[in-house]
Amino acid sequence: MKELKIFGVVTFFTLVTYWGVEPLAHSIFHPHVEPADFQFKDLEKITETKGDATKGKEILSQNCVGCHSVEKVGIPAQVDKQTAIDSYGVFPPDLSTAGLIYESNYLANFIKHPTKAGKLEHKYDGVNKFYIMPDYSWMSNEDISSIVEYLKSIAPAKLSNKEVFVDACGRCHSMKYDKLPAVSDVTKVMASTPPDLSMMIRSRGEHYLTTFINDPQKHLHGTAMPRVGLTEEAQKQVITYLEEIGDSKKAEREAIAPYVLGFLGFMIFISLLWKREVWNEVK
Ligand code: HEC
Ligand code: HEC
Repeated sequence: MKELKIFGVVTFFTLVTYWGVEPLAHSIFHPHVEPADFQFKDLEKITETKGDATKGKEILSQNCVGCHSVEKVGIPAQVDKQTAIDSYGVFPPDLSTAGLIYESNYLANFIKHPTKAGKLEHKYDGVNKFYIMPDYSWMSNEDISSIVEYLKSIAPAKLSNKEVFVDACGRCHSMKYDKLPAVSDVTKVMASTPPDLSMMIRSRGEHYLTTFINDPQKHLHGTAMPRVGLTEEAQKQVITYLEEIGDSKKAEREAIAPYVLGFLGFMIFISLLWKREVWNEVK
C-alpha cells in the first residue's frame, strides 16, 4: 500500500511538471509564429494602381541609377563598389533580377518606404537616422507601380538557387563554405553583424528559416535584419541553396535510413529467435 501511495505522489508531480511547466517553457523558447504567407498584408496595396513599364524605365533612370546598376539592360553602376560600401556600408544591389525575386507589392512598398517594408522603423526613424536606401514616398503610386512593371519586364524567367541567394542575401551575408565573402560592411550602418550563413540550415533548421526570412521580427524582436519580401519560389530556392551548401549530405543520410532500420529489424528478429532457443533449454 505504501508503494502505491509513493507511486501516486510521483506520478502526480511528474504530470504537474509536464503539463504545467513544459508548455510554458516551450512557448518561451519556441514561441508560435504564423507561417509565411507571402502576401505581406500589412503593406499598402500599391500595385493595385496600374503602372506602365515604358514610363517605369524613364522614372528608374532618373531616380535609381545613381546608386543601382541594371546590367541586364546595359546600365552600369555609377558609383564605384568600394565607395558605395564606404558610404552605405553595403553595395546597392543590381536591379536586373528584382522583378523576379521580390513579391511585386512588397517591391513597390520597399521603393516607397524601405524601412516600413523591411520592418526597420524602430531602427531608422527618418528624422535623426536615415536608412541606406532613400524613401520615395513623394512618388505617386502609379509611378512606383510603373517602376515595378519595368523591373518585371526585364527580369529573367529563371535563376539558379545560388543566383537568387547572391541577389537577395549576398550583399549583407557571406557564405564561406561556397567561397562567397561578405561584400559589405553592414556592421557600420546596422550596428550588428550579419552572420555567415554556411551553417545556418543546421543551427536553425529549415522551419525557422522559412518564417525568419519572411519576417525576422517574429523571431528576433528588434533585429536589424530587414524583412526580405521574396516570392515563395525565390525563398524556396534560397533555402535549397543553404541546404546544398550547409547540409550537402542530407539526401545521402536520408537514403541510408531504410537500410539501417531494416538491419535493426532483422537483428531484433534474430535476437528473438536466439532468446527462444536459450529459454527452451532452461525449461
Ligand atoms: C542613395 C542610393 C540609392 C538610391 C538612389 C536608390 N537605392 Fe535602392 N538601395 C540602396 C541600398 C544601399 C540598398 C541596400 C539596402 C538593403 O539591402 O536593404 C538598396 C536596396 C534596394 C533594393 C533591394 C530590396 C530588398 O528588399 O532588399 C531594391 C529593389 C531597390 N533598392 C530599388 C531601388 C529603386 C527602384 C530605386 C529608385 C526609385 C532605388 N532603389 C534608389 C541605395 C539606393
Ligand atoms: C540589408 C542587409 C541584410 C540582408 C539583405 C539580409 N540580411 Fe540576414 N541579417 C542581417 C543582419 C544585420 C543580421 C543580424 C541580426 C541581429 O543580430 O539582430 C542578420 C541575421 C540573419 C540570420 C540569423 C538569425 C538568427 O537567428 O540569429 C539569418 C538566418 C539570416 N540573416 C538570413 C538571411 C537570408 C536567408 C537573407 C536573404 C534572403 C538575408 N538574411 C538577407 C542583414 C541582412
